[in-house]
Amino acid sequence: MKILFVTSEIHPLVKTGGLADVSHALPLALRQAGLDVRVLVPGYPGVLSRLGKASTVCTLEALAPIWSPARLLEGQLGDTGLPLWVVDCPSLYDRPGGPYQGPDGRDWDDNPLRFGFLCHVGAWLCSAPAPLPWSPDVVHCNDWQAGLIPALLRHHQGPPVPSVMTIHNLAFQGNFDPLWVTRLGLPMESFHMHGLEFHGRLSFLKAGINYADRITTVSPRYAEEIQTPEMGCGLDGLLRHRQAELAGILNGIDESWNPACDPALPAAFDAQRLAAGKRRNKTTLQQDCGLAKDPDVPLLGLVSRLTYQKGIDLLLDTLPALMEHPLQLIVLGSGEADMESRLREVADTYPGRVSVTLAFDEPLSHRIIAGSDLFLMPSRFEPCGLAQMYAMRYGTPPVVCETGGLADTVVDCTEGTLGERRATGFTFRNATPEAFKAAVQRALSTYEMRTIWRQLQKTGMRRDFSWKQPAADYAGIYHTLSTRAQTPQS
Ligand code: ADP
Ligand code: GLC
Repeated sequence: MKILFVTSEIHPLVKTGGLADVSHALPLALRQAGLDVRVLVPGYPGVLSRLGKASTVCTLEALAPIWSPARLLEGQLGDTGLPLWVVDCPSLYDRPGGPYQGPDGRDWDDNPLRFGFLCHVGAWLCSAPAPLPWSPDVVHCNDWQAGLIPALLRHHQGPPVPSVMTIHNLAFQGNFDPLWVTRLGLPMESFHMHGLEFHGRLSFLKAGINYADRITTVSPRYAEEIQTPEMGCGLDGLLRHRQAELAGILNGIDESWNPACDPALPAAFDAQRLAAGKRRNKTTLQQDCGLAKDPDVPLLGLVSRLTYQKGIDLLLDTLPALMEHPLQLIVLGSGEADMESRLREVADTYPGRVSVTLAFDEPLSHRIIAGSDLFLMPSRFEPCGLAQMYAMRYGTPPVVCETGGLADTVVDCTEGTLGERRATGFTFRNATPEAFKAAVQRALSTYEMRTIWRQLQKTGMRRDFSWKQPAADYAGIYHTLSTRAQTPQS
């Protein structure tokens, strides 16, 4: 079965968060399961420069809605064998900055065009007249950037190609001025509340949710949550309406996240040989980040986008009280300016005890996840969250809010769950500073009980977070859809 997987990020070529990790690991897991998957991505500079030997599949000049030079390139992702189809359109993608924002941190004004074009290419690849040797049986659209594909497919001639829309984060919807409807070649008749329109704007994500054959999101708990007015970001009614086609499939983590062979780490370790390796990672990290070198003091780590979603303010608000305990804190993140400046102040207030790096630094993220004792992730909402799974895999019990994928992956440490050898971290119910502080304090007391702590670490390290089952679940969905598409309707 042939699957076109459309995404705006893929590790290690372009990454702002977990979508990039998923777009790398899930297609590979699907290929291992025997599916013929190709990934379609925009040709940002970081993608083109690392594409290696690429060939031109075809030119894309004739394709709406742009009239500047564009072509489709074929290469592969490193030495993984995963075929990449790259939309090379310099006027849209060849610029400095990130995939969505310029170097000044502001969204590109022409994002509707940049991702509208990606969607047009995706939909065109599904259309029968495309002069290509490969055409997909199912198209898998990820997040709003690919959300127009199911809408565009509605207007295609020829046999319909079924679509799957995966919501990695309902808070990012791609809502734009309605003038983009016609500019992007969409029929004005579809601009209504049961189509593309959302509060008077063109919504890429709503289009995807409305028109896709199946909708998935990245954890079972989040699939429930987004159907409620509190967490539905205004789309809960539509999601309830499409409940029968909506499923939550928990993300996995890639095998390369393995402390026994991670090239970013100063020392390798695993669940059998834990103590010495973990200690080496911790003291090297302390030294590298300007913290006092002390193998016994609890070291709390946080690696995150700095946004409201991630609950960084809960940490900032409780920090003065937490710092009364003997502990160190290490933060790696980038994002909203006010959070960055509050974090900078904290680092200045506690020299030698708090280290803050405001950057996106992949190797450092691995070293923090491996070298910390506790991993903090107080997200207000979290569709899945990968970082907490990486932390458990690296023997660093997480402290998380009981929401979305965090609730689905972390087992709170209680007498009962310890007895059953299921406990892997510390959870708190409501995203308030008090609840967060209490959970961290619980974790700090448990840290003093070394035997229990070891058990907690090892249980987390042995949890199966592989992509095997999720990939089988996606394959099942593709199979049902393509069988249905091939069955003549009476
Ligand atoms: P989200 O996608 O919402 O940001 P996830 O937990 O799913 O959250 O994925 C975040 C990914 O991005 C993880 O791989 C995490 O380690 C990484 N990450 C986040 N911030 C940084 C950073 N500043 N530097 C390096 N990696 C980061
Ligand atoms: C989004 C979500 C995160 C999820 C990731 C990958 O960025 O915020 O929770 O893990 O996508 O699905």
